[in-house]
Amino acid sequence: MNNKSKQELLGYQSYSIQENLTYFKPTKISTTTTFAEEIRHTLLQPKKSISPKFFYDKDGSKIFDEICSLPEYYPYNAETEILQAIEKKLIPYLSNEFHLVELGSGSSVKTRLLIDILLKSQNHLQYFPIDISEILDQSAKNLCMDYPNLSVTGVVDTFENGLDFIEHYDDKPNLITFLGSSFGNFSKNEGMLFLQKINNLMKSDDLFLIGLDLKKDQQVLHNAYNDSQKTTAKFNLNVLKRINDELDANFNIENFEHHAVYDEEKGRIEMYLRSLSEQSITISKSELSITLSKDELIHTENSHKFSISQIESSLKESNFEKLEMWFDSQKYFVLVLAKKI
Ligand code: AVI
Repeated sequence: MNNKSKQELLGYQSYSIQENLTYFKPTKISTTTTFAEEIRHTLLQPKKSISPKFFYDKDGSKIFDEICSLPEYYPYNAETEILQAIEKKLIPYLSNEFHLVELGSGSSVKTRLLIDILLKSQNHLQYFPIDISEILDQSAKNLCMDYPNLSVTGVVDTFENGLDFIEHYDDKPNLITFLGSSFGNFSKNEGMLFLQKINNLMKSDDLFLIGLDLKKDQQVLHNAYNDSQKTTAKFNLNVLKRINDELDANFNIENFEHHAVYDEEKGRIEMYLRSLSEQSITISKSELSITLSKDELIHTENSHKFSISQIESSLKESNFEKLEMWFDSQKYFVLVLAKKI
């Protein structure tokens, strides 16, 4: 059976964009809840919320890139510092020809650092970004242009489905990466289920590289999510703009304020949008009208910060063997390399 028919059997259609750049999309129509339905559901709860996955429309993704270059937002620089320093330590684990699998389409800077490392120990590399949203943008084309020994195969699907697809792709081992501490945006329960799913889908010789944000001085955390340029506020408020544009709603952005606090007991930054007055909102495509009282909060994101012992016990519980833990110079962030037990 050739690859193509295998992938078709798995329910994917391939689209060839240019030489060395292909992507696969599921042929079945997804049955997941639509944006309009999910917004209706979460805004009808006694404690209103909007899922952080809706931050990342085109503008939101651009604003997130701006966040990554803020002096206060340390996770980006800390993780980059680690990636720049681990080449010699990672290469001994890469004895075979590995595929690079990235959960979420990462910033091309970090992806490039990993590509550089892998291409030191192999002649050709197949890179699989997995993302539910548009991943094959200009940066994928630039990667293909800059690395003649690279092929990019994007999978437009959920992480779990995408990984399932890649595990059936061929029998080469995968270096599966989940960078940026996006893991911290899951609830504890979602996080454990996610690790278990990854572990179940992995082959015995696959490696898993995950970036996690560590517990630290609360002022550093506060500043990272309340930056002086108000870029995080713009990022948070942008989700209301997106709902206005895509779901035909009438949020007046001026009537909301960004609010981010660290909850020490829960070990997480909690992000909200605060209503500055009593106001009524209509979201036509969700067939929804709601009233917000003055100071009412809409929850938009949790960003968990971890201790080493929490990380070790979560890995153990989800059947991972920890191989390495690499830190930045300030010990703000960790990259963990693990394999399936
Ligand atoms: C994507 N994620 C890991 C970021 C975080 O730090 O939790 C999202 C973010 N929210 C506000 N600033 C950045």
